[in-house]
Amino acid sequence: MSDQERAAKRAQWEEINRAKAAAKQKEQGTPDSAEPRAGLTQKQFQAIRGTRDLLPPDTALWNHVEQTAHEVFGTFGFGEIRTPIIESTELFARSIGGETDVVSKEMYSFPEELDFFRQNLGTISEAMQNEGRLNRYLNLVVVFSERLKDELNANRLPQTPTNLGAFQQLADLSSEALGRWNSGKTKPDPEWEELLGRAETMVRDFDLEDKESLRPEGTAGTCRAYIEHHMQQLPQPVKLYYMGPMFRRERPQKGRYRQFYQIGAEILGGADAPAIDAELIEMLMTFFDKCGLQGTELSINSIGHSADNCRRGYSALLRSELEKVKDKLGADSQRRIETNPLRVLDSKLEHEQPIIEKLPRIADHLCDDCKTHYAVVKHELELRGVIYRENWRLVRGLDYYMRTTFEITAPGLGSQNAVCGGGRYDGLVELLGGPPTKGIGFAIGEDRLILSLEESGKGAGRQGRDVYIAWMGERAYATAIRAAKDLRNAGCSVELPPTELKFGKALERASKLGSRFALILGDSEVADGQWTLKTLADGSQQKLSEAALLEYLRNQKAGL
Ligand code: HAM
Repeated sequence: MSDQERAAKRAQWEEINRAKAAAKQKEQGTPDSAEPRAGLTQKQFQAIRGTRDLLPPDTALWNHVEQTAHEVFGTFGFGEIRTPIIESTELFARSIGGETDVVSKEMYSFPEELDFFRQNLGTISEAMQNEGRLNRYLNLVVVFSERLKDELNANRLPQTPTNLGAFQQLADLSSEALGRWNSGKTKPDPEWEELLGRAETMVRDFDLEDKESLRPEGTAGTCRAYIEHHMQQLPQPVKLYYMGPMFRRERPQKGRYRQFYQIGAEILGGADAPAIDAELIEMLMTFFDKCGLQGTELSINSIGHSADNCRRGYSALLRSELEKVKDKLGADSQRRIETNPLRVLDSKLEHEQPIIEKLPRIADHLCDDCKTHYAVVKHELELRGVIYRENWRLVRGLDYYMRTTFEITAPGLGSQNAVCGGGRYDGLVELLGGPPTKGIGFAIGEDRLILSLEESGKGAGRQGRDVYIAWMGERAYATAIRAAKDLRNAGCSVELPPTELKFGKALERASKLGSRFALILGDSEVADGQWTLKTLADGSQQKLSEAALLEYLRNQKAGL
């Protein structure tokens, strides 16, 4: 469906809603608008930045995609899991990694205000750039220490010795900083760096352990549920899938939202046989195929496991190579040399590309077991006819991965073209307090999948009604209600206008709604038992008895 068609459908839908509301008001004699409550003026609200409403007819495609996932995943032995949208912040910090962008910058956490301070005061490098930024940082320190005082006094934060101590130190530090600033020392210098460094540590140490976050992804919650419900006692592996909204505070753009939807699957427990990795990917490609998504590209890689003779050794080598070219790298990559050198490989900055291409590659530094695992995964994919491309720079942005990682891109998405990401994460369940457990999974970005399907013209097909019942007269109305019930039971989508309309007006409505047939019921049709059915595409009409008409429409429906 093109953008224009979608806009037309949406306009139709809005018109229907307006007409319905007007009809209801006319029927009930309700006033045009509700009486405003005392003190409240009128205000129009809009969906907040990065979130959006999904409306019919677009939701039909969402339902179709989700139905396809239920069916395809079911054929591979997966069962659906539904976990809460809110989990403890600590769960995500532990599994995804406290230093990752998702956890350190993008999570919606509560109490939100304190989290804002934490994110803004957690690194001082920006504040050390110029006088203005230093000033902003100091202001935030002062406001933060006042807010903490309020929160601690009101018992909304744990009154632990760490917190009380950190609060006192922060209060002292903020008056020291104010004194220094007021004495004219307003330029970033080593003394400021030392002072801000102390503030940074205190802010980080502060214990906000009772915090909760909106889930930014589904793997952590699924692993938590696996442990909490002792699923390791079930026959292994346990195969689970989920779908639903996720939340990340990212800069919104096409294909990137702050509330977005994922369809994900996880295999937990049992062995780590490469055939499991390959079958999971096979399932994913089958799903895309059944959805009609074309032009996908599957990239795979192995990032080994965390041991000196494998990824850790490689990371150290990478770090030392990156140190040699540090001054040619951008600020993000420079920071990542320390925090996670592998993530430098993810960089999209043009001037960094030739530098990255010359870096050592992980495939040459995997341990023997990981090397074999990766080779067999590739062989198993070939056995299943799955076409892949190897990408040595595919390291993924979440900390829990090891060995197999993969990503799928789809056309029509611009820069946000990853429609799915996943990989193996043996060890994550154990890290979250469960038994040693193998794990692998993926998540599809449903918004992006839908966008790509729409861009390629794979809309959800006809969205109109099957039958619009144009009725006039009291007796006809009673018959129309019965006819609507019978037709709906037969699976037809039926529109029954709630108030009487002249036939001309009713037929106009029927065609605006994209109806296929109009069933015309007037008192004469009811009296002689012969109903009129009009095919709206060509205007032809036929007269049929009630039973014959139902039979005709049932057959038409079956042939649709
Ligand atoms: P991820 O790569 O962070 O992995 O996200 C998976 C997919 O979700 C992305 O490829 C993208 O299509 C979609 N996505 C992510 N952020 C956004 C956004 N802001 N707006 C729209 N779509 C987005 C994970 O989430 C892992 N939990 C996947 C996984 C499951 N690995 C193992 N099991």
